[in-house]
This record gives sequence, structure tokens and C-alpha cells, in this order.
Amino acid sequence: MTTSATAPNLPEPLVITLGNLKGGVGKTTSAFFLASYFATVHEHRVLVIDADPLSQTGYSWYRRLRQAEVSVPFDLIAFPSRHVGDCITDNGAKYDVIVVDAGGESADIFKAAVPETDELILVTSVSPSEVKRVPSTYRAAEEAASESSKAIRVRVLMTKVPVTMKSGVNVSTEYRSQRGNLEDAGYDVFESYVSGWKWYREAADGEVGDGAENPIEDLGEYRRVGDELISPYLAAADGPARLAVEVPA
Ligand SMILES: Nc1ncnc2c1ncn2[C@@H]1O[C@H](COP(=O)(O)OP(=O)(O)O)[C@@H](O)[C@H]1O
Ligand SMILES: [Mg+2]
Repeated sequence: MTTSATAPNLPEPLVITLGNLKGGVGKTTSAFFLASYFATVHEHRVLVIDADPLSQTGYSWYRRLRQAEVSVPFDLIAFPSRHVGDCITDNGAKYDVIVVDAGGESADIFKAAVPETDELILVTSVSPSEVKRVPSTYRAAEEAASESSKAIRVRVLMTKVPVTMKSGVNVSTEYRSQRGNLEDAGYDVFESYVSGWKWYREAADGEVGDGAENPIEDLGEYRRVGDELISPYLAAADGPARLAVEVPA
């Protein structure tokens, strides 16, 4: 087991599930960057499970990197099945961190991952239609979590965020209003967010090979997201809170 001086109290393994019952919000991109974060910043052994039954974009991306002989600091397996919970437990001894890309299409698969999860990240852009899907995803998670003995922390990560900086503050109206809606509904929203940058898109969609850089070598804003993700484990005794957000009907 790799021990990291910066994060001594992580569960072994730390299981992170990325979900939103809606596609195209940045789950796979977030899974890759966070996997890289744990592998490079904390030197953890990291596994990504691509559990998206419809679009195995994580698997394809990983294969493309491998074929181009780009060194990727984590392992990835495709396991788009309702038995994803078994896949997590079966790999638990071999990895320090397991990141599950639960996809957007199957509530069954998402719900199968939740009971094995420590950190559930609900990923959404600022688009109102995507933000509106957060409560149903949360409710599905809550249902699944009732069968778990684990304490599962749930946080919302905002991606593809428009940025209009004024005196060091992002004053984008779309960003502020959607963050406000989420916070008013009681969600724990990551302080750090991921901007809508062409660069993140190119990391996933870009061609790699001949002379191309490793697109995930630079963690960008995901470094801060990762630091925030593990911060509760640095703050002593304060155990993770159970699913306890009041979701308005
Ligand atoms: N922060 C971002 N800024 C710009 N484009 C992004 C960002 N995150 C993801 N994308 C792009 O949006 C699309 C959907 O992202 P993806 O991670 O595949 O979402 P999901 O897994 O939720 O379907 C991809 O083309 C991806 O490259
Ligand atoms: Mg995806």
C-alpha cells in the first residue's frame, strides 16, 4: 500500500464514483483527470472502471493513449455491468484509489456502484437542463446508499463553467445562479470548479501520437478539485457525512 504523507487517512481503497443520469457533462473527462491526480500527485495505484454501458469513451480514450505509447499513470478496465460493485471489491486490494465512471444511461449500474463508494461526485455543467437532473441522480444514489454500511459523501462538481473574472471573482451569471440554485437546495458544491476550456475537450478528443504531448500530463484545475476532494481526510476526526441532503420535490 502506498502511503501518502499528504493524505494519511484515506480509506483503502478510496472509491470515487462519478455520476449524473445525463450524458455529456464531463464525467469521463473528470474520471481521467482525477485518476491522474491521485497517480501523479500522491503516487497512488489507481484503477478507472469504465462502467458506462452506452458510450465507452473512457475505454476508447485509454486505448488510444496506449496505442500511441503515451504512458498513462493508471489502469483502466471496461466493466459496464450491474455487477460493477463486485468489480470494485474484487480490485480493492490491488489499488489505492478506484474511480468509477458510472456513465449517464443506466441507473442500475450507477446504483450498483454507490454502495461501494466513499466519495460520490455528481457532475454537472451550468446548463439548467443538466442542473435539473442533479436531484434525480441524488435520489437514485440515496436509494442505493440505504443498502450500504459505508458512509458516503456526496458533492456536486460544476464543469464547463463559463468564466468572467472581475477582481479575482468569477461573476458569470450562469455560473453564479446555478451554483446558487444547487446550494439553496442543500447540495454540497465543490468550491473549485472546472472551466469550459477547449483544452479539456482536446485532451479527450484530440489525436495523440507522433510528438503529441500526453494530454493529461497537466492536471489543470483538476489539481485543486483533487486537493478539495481529499481535504476532509486531512482534517482530523471529522468523518464523512451520510447522505443527508433535503432534496426539494
Ligand atoms: N471542462 C470542459 N471544457 C470543455 N469541454 C469539456 C470539458 N469537460 C468535458 N468536455 C468535453 O465535453 C464532452 C463530454 O465530456 P465527457 O467527459 O465525455 O462527458 P460524459 O462522460 O459526462 O458524457 C467531450 O467532448 C469532452 O471533451
Ligand atoms: Mg462518459
